Amino acid sequence: MTLQPPQNDLPIGIFDSGIGGLTVAAALHHRFPAESLLYLGDTARLPYGTKSPETVIRYALQAAAFLRGRGIKILVLACNTASAHALAAVRAAHPDMPVVGMVEAGAEAAAAASRSGRIVVAATEGTCRSGAYPAAIAALRPTATVNQIACPMFVALAEEGLADGPIAEDMARSYLGAAFQGDQAADCLVLGCTHFPLLRPALRRVLGDAPQLVDCADEVARQVDSRLHAVGAAPAGAIGGIRLFSTDTPQRFARVAARFFPDLGAAPAVELVDL
Ligand code: DGL
Repeated sequence: MTLQPPQNDLPIGIFDSGIGGLTVAAALHHRFPAESLLYLGDTARLPYGTKSPETVIRYALQAAAFLRGRGIKILVLACNTASAHALAAVRAAHPDMPVVGMVEAGAEAAAAASRSGRIVVAATEGTCRSGAYPAAIAALRPTATVNQIACPMFVALAEEGLADGPIAEDMARSYLGAAFQGDQAADCLVLGCTHFPLLRPALRRVLGDAPQLVDCADEVARQVDSRLHAVGAAPAGAIGGIRLFSTDTPQRFARVAARFFPDLGAAPAVELVDL
């Protein structure tokens, strides 16, 4: 698949249930300052992590169709839950467009980062139930042991702007403390939900400096780089910038987005859309 030159200047499409994927958008912006980004947060239907695979697939297909309709050259499912359930369906619906998910990237980073092979994947209930991470890590490192821990409250803390502080620390201790203690302690924590990197300082204070914290965003940015080069779609002109869409509460979304992209100003424009 080779994209034609006019398509090279099309934006990179990024999608998550809410603000979590902004951690991925920020990594992409950092790696490709000249690329335009289109970001969709499906805030009206958040959280995805507690929903059935069928529902998440339906939502992800709608989000992909929306971004495709606006014109994009590559799509990043910046949501582990959507990647775990819907990556194959989205790829099948858009065979002529590269689609990159979070799980393959996270598994690759974890398999490389862990020394002991004892890996904890912190994710949503849906991602855990899908078994996507254990399968992807086993394919790369068959001797690894993968302990999946659903941490649904982390999503709410991140969305509420409470990702750092005593509540986040208590939650982190209660979900993850035991897995990082004793002789069989894990040495690697995969932040298997794009909201979770926002809890990194609290996680560090609770778990200490020893465990590797794997944030899939940088690895996804690397994969996007290689996919764009493979299809000859590096940008021809320097455009840059991000356009934001949300399916609910655009003002709230704008406030959060401003923290990730300070050059957009205090109140970046967020277009309210219906999928
Ligand atoms: N940020 C999403 C993920 O990476 C899910 C959060 C949610 O909607 O439950 O899994």
